Amino acid sequence: MKEFFEQIREKVEEIKNSPGTIFGLVFPYFLIVGILIGLYFISKLEFLSRQKVPPTLRDTVVVADLQMREAKVVPPVKLSEIKNASPQLLSEGETLYKSNCASCHGETGAGGGPASAGLNPAPRNFTSLDGWKNGAKLSQIYTTLQEGIPGSSMVSYDYLLPEQKFALAHYIRTNFVPDPPEDSQSDLDALDATYNLSAGQELPAQIPVAMAKTVISQENKQYLDKVEVALNKIESSPNKNFFSRVTNNGKLALMFLVKNFNNINSEQNFKKIVLINVNQNGFNGNVFNLSEQEWSDLYKLITSVI
Ligand code: HEC
Repeated sequence: MKEFFEQIREKVEEIKNSPGTIFGLVFPYFLIVGILIGLYFISKLEFLSRQKVPPTLRDTVVVADLQMREAKVVPPVKLSEIKNASPQLLSEGETLYKSNCASCHGETGAGGGPASAGLNPAPRNFTSLDGWKNGAKLSQIYTTLQEGIPGSSMVSYDYLLPEQKFALAHYIRTNFVPDPPEDSQSDLDALDATYNLSAGQELPAQIPVAMAKTVISQENKQYLDKVEVALNKIESSPNKNFFSRVTNNGKLALMFLVKNFNNINSEQNFKKIVLINVNQNGFNGNVFNLSEQEWSDLYKLITSVI
């Protein structure tokens, strides 16, 4: 046993003294480790290439649909009158200010309202003329209320009536702004022209495009169902051949009639409606040769099936 250890000790001594042998012993380990790293890399190649930044950045632009909006009539205002702060406008302004604006701009108009914490930029301090973006003229505050200040929490209040926006602007200018700057006549004219103030406006109702599509396809579905029923009735009626003689496309003709159902309230109207756009509406030129009796029959047939 002792000899065995002795032998090993000698061997170790020997190896220590010859660097070539050390290299010979160590080299295979490095080689194997190197090959393993290589294999690991190859096995992950697909994963690595997937992690590369794509050559073009993904399109993250979200196309916003139209907002739902009720039709609204914006009553005209007389600028020559509304440009003056009447007691009535001021009290209307006060009510509006307290319920819509004080949370950010503060009851005293100096900013720092309870909802202003952490807002950047901070809500404007109306008691100083420093740093206003649009400005403190009547027309400028009106513009701020109409458009909002992009990039800040000052949103647009365009849903308020013109009179309410003037009331707010007067309230702020009268109670908070020191020496509020006056509008020139051309400022007021420009404001009038921009927002059609003295003419008033009728804003049509608006629904999101996506919703409009659903509504239209639902309507079409109803029409199609009716056309299907009407076609079946005609197929099983003795006037089947008569109908196919005057139409190129029976389905199209029925669709046209179903859609115009409300206008087909007399034989006379029926005749007129069919004769407009013959061919496009599914009927054909034979309708021009129909006798009065045949028109009458066609009218009866159609009104009995749709
Ligand atoms: C959610 C908080 C908030 C509310 C509510 C709010 N505002 Fe503001 N408002 C701001 C902020 C923030 C600014 C500063 C924007 C900037 O400097 O970019 C601002 C700025 C303004 C300005 C100055 C615009 C200028 O020219 O720099 C006016 C005027 C104004 N607001 C009026 C109002 C009125 C009137 C109301 C109520 C109808 C209202 N704000 C409600 C946050 C608010």
